[in-house]
Amino acid sequence: MAHIDQYATEDATLASAREAGRQADAGPVSAASGAALRFLAAAIGARAVVEVGTGCGSSGIWLLRGMRSDAILTSVDVEAEYQEIARDAYRKAGFAANRTRLIRGRALEVLPRLTDAAYDMVFVDAVHTEYPAYLVEALRLLRPGGIVVFNNVLAATPMIDGPLHVPDPGTAAIRETERLVREDEALIPLLLPVGEGLLAAIRADAPEQD
Ligand SMILES: C[S@@+](CC[C@H](N)C(=O)[O-])C[C@H]1O[C@@H](n2cnc3c(N)ncnc32)[C@H](O)[C@@H]1O
Repeated sequence: MAHIDQYATEDATLASAREAGRQADAGPVSAASGAALRFLAAAIGARAVVEVGTGCGSSGIWLLRGMRSDAILTSVDVEAEYQEIARDAYRKAGFAANRTRLIRGRALEVLPRLTDAAYDMVFVDAVHTEYPAYLVEALRLLRPGGIVVFNNVLAATPMIDGPLHVPDPGTAAIRETERLVREDEALIPLLLPVGEGLLAAIRADAPEQD
């Protein structure tokens, strides 16, 4: 695991964004998770990405670095102060202001206002107990072939399991999201043990009619 974590490297811009996020207690993604997000965004040539949980901008910079040069990141957070720090971080990372659309508000109030099937990727990094509800919104927002990615699935999931172990509500919600993703035949799931752990799924194309 340490090998994976050390393989991804941050430049000075990302290191400073992560430090700002750490100091603000905004839980910035690790370099390993960020590198995976950049990879996935680049692999699908993402033009439009929704992020749930802007924080101070670390994951946004990684995503923008993988997205196409004309792509737009829409990022939602309840904390205006975090989003101001993120805005500054994007600017320092060289992204024009029109590459990001920061929306302040509760994700479950903002996401329903975004357009159906208009996004290539949804990255979720906010309230664990809301992960199952974010999944419902993400599946509506994604175009066929789009990818949803949930952060923190390993950090929040205890390794101890069994009938006597009662997980906290956040962990229970993450487990429920893992199950929903695995059992949805319209999704191609993958658990990636990088950084804090990423649960990813591709929204498959609709099956062809006979
Ligand atoms: C782990 S941090 C995100 C870190 C960010 N992705 C990064 O890499 O810098 C979680 C974020 O979710 C935000 N948040 C908390 N409740 C929320 C809600 N109901 N809707 C949207 N964002 C929320 C917090 O303000 C915080 O910035």
